[in-house]
Amino acid sequence: QAFFRPIHNAAPPSPTNRHTKITVVGAGNVGMAIAQTILTQDLVDEIALVDAKADMLRGEMLDLQHAAAFLPRTTILASSSDYAVTSGSDLIVVTAGARQVPGESRLNLLQRNVALFRGIIPALVKHSPDAILLVVSNPVDILTYVAWKISGFPSNRVIGSGTNLDSSRFRFLLADHLDVNAQDVQAYVVGEHGDSSVALWSSISVGGVPVLSFLERQQIPYEKEMLEKIHREVVDGAYEVISLKGYTSWAIGYSVASLARTLLRDQRSIHPVSVLARGFHGIDGGDVFLSLPAQLGRGGVVGVTNVHMTDEEVQRLKASAETLLELQSQLDI
Ligand code: NAI
Ligand code: LAC
Repeated sequence: QAFFRPIHNAAPPSPTNRHTKITVVGAGNVGMAIAQTILTQDLVDEIALVDAKADMLRGEMLDLQHAAAFLPRTTILASSSDYAVTSGSDLIVVTAGARQVPGESRLNLLQRNVALFRGIIPALVKHSPDAILLVVSNPVDILTYVAWKISGFPSNRVIGSGTNLDSSRFRFLLADHLDVNAQDVQAYVVGEHGDSSVALWSSISVGGVPVLSFLERQQIPYEKEMLEKIHREVVDGAYEVISLKGYTSWAIGYSVASLARTLLRDQRSIHPVSVLARGFHGIDGGDVFLSLPAQLGRGGVVGVTNVHMTDEEVQRLKASAETLLELQSQLDI
């Protein structure tokens, strides 16, 4: 007797023909890299683009529309400086704002971009009260906190792209050093997206083999300095690219597209993204967003993993939190 009785002649399941829509606010280097990657990966039914520069915005939309014959499916592309175009979005990606000039820190952008968020977040919330907010603008951790406060959304629906990008850089550099494929390298960078990020050495595994314990078991000497050097290259990575081409865009485009896929297809994958970290790893000085490995799905953050961290790693994470909390305390939100 089967454990269940199949129901014959049952109506075929209704196709999940729910229309999915992403809004990208800011049609600059990053916003367009994100839009183009999402379009190429055929992730949604509709993409709405918003920017303050109306002509440039329309030009970007038309340029993408002209690629229609080369794309797997017809994705509706809309654009306007009027936020009504964002109505009914499932996911809103915010990239609007000032970017670093060569040598400038992300934190230095704070005041300019907070002022901008005061205008755009309420407009987005008005037209898409049930959306997930995914913040990319820098300094992304504090701006994710700002978006959370202004929007009034539950914290599970306000996420920062965080160290999803830093972790990708880390995996690339580790893969290059170990001569393996980056997709077979599991490794997390957590904490602040940028200068005070924390590389979780014990999280590094290749093909399921934890690297550090493998090296120790095999008594293969590994220079801790080598690992520190790789993490420094992660931290310096954006500054180097910005000094060479003026901004970063392609890697963040793929990073955000990977998050959009996990969120909108309810994939329950784990990504290191900026979440409300209060209460994790002893962070208790206030409401602060930092990147921790989080399970993501259609409702946003499903859960935050209690990833193993050494005492030193916890101390560095808590120091990051204190820095961000101090900057947040000076904001009038
Ligand atoms: P960009 O200058 O190319 O684009 C910014 C866009 O925002 C411009 O088109 C501008 O017109 C638009 N904008 C400004 N004020 C606006 C408003 N009130 N409403 C709508 N649009 C407005 O800059 P880019 O290179 O695209 O960088 C954007 C942001 O993304 C920066 O803050 C940058 O630091 C950040 N970023 C974050 C990364 C991350 O990993 N979190 C990675 C790369 C960049
Ligand atoms: C980056 C900066 C721009 O990591 O946030 O690319």
